[in-house]
Amino acid sequence: MESETPQSILIKGGTIVTATDKYEADLLVVGEIIQTIGLNLDVKADRIIDATGKYIFPGGIDTHTHMELPFMGTHSSDDFETGTRAGLYGGTTSIIDFAIQNQGGTLNAIIDEYHEKASKAVGDYAFHLGVTDFNEKTKAEIKDIILNRGISSFKVFMAYKGALMVDDRQIMELMTETGKYGGMVIAHCENGDMIDGLVKEHRAAGLFEPKYHGVCHPELAEAEASGRFIDLAHHTKSPCYIVHMTCEGALNKVKDATKRNQKVNVETCIQYLVLNDELYEKPGFEASKWIFSPPLRKPKDQEALWASMRQGIVHTVGTDHCPFCMDQKKMGEKDFSKIPNGAPMIENRMEVLFSEGVVKGRISLNKFVEVTSTNAAKIFGMFPKKGALAIGSDADLVIFDPNEKHTISVKTHHMNCDYNGFEGWEVTGKTKTVLLRGTIAIDDGKALVGKGFGKFIHRNAH
Ligand code: URP
Ligand code: ZN
Ligand code: ZN
Repeated sequence: MESETPQSILIKGGTIVTATDKYEADLLVVGEIIQTIGLNLDVKADRIIDATGKYIFPGGIDTHTHMELPFMGTHSSDDFETGTRAGLYGGTTSIIDFAIQNQGGTLNAIIDEYHEKASKAVGDYAFHLGVTDFNEKTKAEIKDIILNRGISSFKVFMAYKGALMVDDRQIMELMTETGKYGGMVIAHCENGDMIDGLVKEHRAAGLFEPKYHGVCHPELAEAEASGRFIDLAHHTKSPCYIVHMTCEGALNKVKDATKRNQKVNVETCIQYLVLNDELYEKPGFEASKWIFSPPLRKPKDQEALWASMRQGIVHTVGTDHCPFCMDQKKMGEKDFSKIPNGAPMIENRMEVLFSEGVVKGRISLNKFVEVTSTNAAKIFGMFPKKGALAIGSDADLVIFDPNEKHTISVKTHHMNCDYNGFEGWEVTGKTKTVLLRGTIAIDDGKALVGKGFGKFIHRNAH
């Protein structure tokens, strides 16, 4: 039987930008992969895209999303279909979502459940495995999950006491077990006991407004837990990754660890770089739009995050995309501790970082690619299939106009959420065309692939 000839696309005249290089070249995609990169390529192709004046980036990888997450009595409002489609519009071709164990349930059961949920994804996806109950039974599942099920990162929550939080003994044992097979433990670092106590105190004092969420999640709670997690990783000789780092105090713990030659992988999220806690002073219930954990911090923390990114201390910029519509947020109208934690972010990550980071001179173009894509692929066992513009890599790429200005709005975004945390922001730089595994997924404001196009990314151990 004759096999079908794979479709080919020649992208001409663009500027290829990777984590290390920037050069003008043509790029030929055949089937799902990048076949050739060269000067003035004289080859036939089924389709030619003129990328003159545009940058070509590796497809973005969002290391931290929560699609359809059951959380705080409701579900995040984007599912894998709407959320990954919105990501594609913004240049994110792959996500790593969190399959979080039901306490008392098995790890394999939640992985199966997430494969089912994610089968409608439009973009590609991988899973971190959230471990909320580490015991002899779950321990016995780890080896097979790392070696055969394509999941090599295991998330623990040091906060959300009484719900997702685990204790230090469980973290240490999980590190030891995952480490045997090349896995890595990643953590939400906030001191859950401290937060629990502060929330109780504030509620008892009749302080219920949204802004008290920020007060009850102080910088110290994050710095302390970050230091503790880093110490546990050092003690167990394990690799580690801290999700959504927000503040100077936590960054200082990472810097301290480098003095004993420890490597700590650090993620921040776009919101912590560009928004600060002044938003909690908005009148009425408006501040609830930015209620997530950890909360927004001070301008000095934003400065520390940008500097740490330049210094190579912050490795990835994710989103912690976990949207809730305003009627869901209203569950906490009378009590900040009941406001579902999370915000819509996935669609705006790349464009906001480009505009606020590259255009404003805070980070270089190569750093932009490093933190939005390449480092994520390297840290999480997907490189160079993902995160690279290289011969043989998946043809996941973003054709980006660095000069086009546009205004972010709920009226034009594609996330399933009735507000946008960046409403009215003018940004410079726009995703024009997105290829996912060699197929044009987004072109000039239209999605050309649909439900179920996304594939699971089977990740390697470290
Ligand atoms: O507020 C947040 N971050 N919601 C999602 C769960 C988490 O902590 O990552
Ligand atoms: Zn978290
Ligand atoms: Zn999260």
